[in-house]
Amino acid sequence: MNKVIKSVCLHNPLNVELINVPYPSKQETDVLIRVEAMGICGSDIGAYRGTNPLVSYPRILGHEIVGTILESGFGMPENINVGDRVVLDPYIYCKECYPCSIGRTNCCEKLQVLGVHTNGAMQEIVRHPAHLIVKAPDIPIEHLVLAEPLTISLHAIHRTNVKEGEHIVIIGAGAIGLMVALVAKAYKAIPIVIDILDERLHYAKSIGVDYVINPQNENDIETIKAITQGRMAEVVIEASGSNISIQNTLKYVSFAGRIALTGWPKNETLLPTNIITFKELNIYGARTSKGEFEEALTLLSQKTINPNDIVSKLIKFDEIPKYIKNISEQPSNYLKVIALF
Ligand SMILES: NC(=O)c1ccc[n+]([C@@H]2O[C@H](COP(=O)([O-])OP(=O)(O)OC[C@H]3O[C@@H](n4cnc5c(N)ncnc54)[C@H](O)[C@@H]3O)[C@@H](O)[C@H]2O)c1
Ligand SMILES: [Zn+2]
Ligand SMILES: [Zn+2]
Repeated sequence: MNKVIKSVCLHNPLNVELINVPYPSKQETDVLIRVEAMGICGSDIGAYRGTNPLVSYPRILGHEIVGTILESGFGMPENINVGDRVVLDPYIYCKECYPCSIGRTNCCEKLQVLGVHTNGAMQEIVRHPAHLIVKAPDIPIEHLVLAEPLTISLHAIHRTNVKEGEHIVIIGAGAIGLMVALVAKAYKAIPIVIDILDERLHYAKSIGVDYVINPQNENDIETIKAITQGRMAEVVIEASGSNISIQNTLKYVSFAGRIALTGWPKNETLLPTNIITFKELNIYGARTSKGEFEEALTLLSQKTINPNDIVSKLIKFDEIPKYIKNISEQPSNYLKVIALF
């Protein structure tokens, strides 16, 4: 009899459930991992709602994954052995296209993100390319799960080359935006967080963000002008995915400023490009991450980024479908939900 394992499958939008799948078989260059902890991401919720344009169905979800190595594979990092706990780097690149050839593997033309373009790792055992794992430091497992989303935040900070003393407007106080704000503080920059949900802004304040703005209740541009003494923000990081926020980045940024677009909008955005020329802006896409797991794990282990500021709830694996539905219906109730086996 063939062995089966449990996994979380999104059959199509609004239809997620636990199903049995065959025990994975691995190739020489894969490792087998016993999955121990999994984060539920905003993009999983987008996939559930049918608003994530990159997801095809049916899809096993899961890209924020921690587990232990059951079987080794060719190409596994030398510091990792069978039985070690690892964090998965979930961005599988082709090694052959132009961006891969110049080391920009995160924007590989054929990038396969676990749980998005290809089946993910919300399941008991998973196979994964042996070279795409990172040894976990000795910190609580639920903290390790934050490494992947933290690399997304770090990538936006690195793309815009955030420097000490600069003002960083961050649009969207979800897990990604809040971690951008915490990293900005760690880099001695000054975060200004914008969201349309007051609860999210109160929470941002409670974890040490001094400036928060709800553009529905106050004049966002005038407030940023006052905080920056007329200059506007040297850096703006868009982490909401809303079209209007993408347009607002051009209003919030200073002359000669930098913008990173991390949020995934569902539809295209109309932009007045004359402003880009007039202010001579640098606008960067910021997609996934590359070589940023080690820094993320260091920030979490040293509690420079306090994981407890981001993790809002621990649940059991079997509860994932129920919580995906809950988060989709009441997103402001949860920041980061983590499932444990
Ligand atoms: N580039 C990448 O590789 C990458 C990776 C992960 C997530 N993302 C994207 O980053 C974004 C943030 O992810 P998350 O998990 O933190 O999402 P989230 O849904 O938890 O947070 C988004 C926040 O944006 C706020 N928001 C919505 N509309 C707004 C508006 N008009 N003005 C101000 N704030 C607004 C929401 O209230 C919410 O607090 C999403 O678009 C997600 O798809 C991108
Ligand atoms: Zn994610
Ligand atoms: Zn490639």
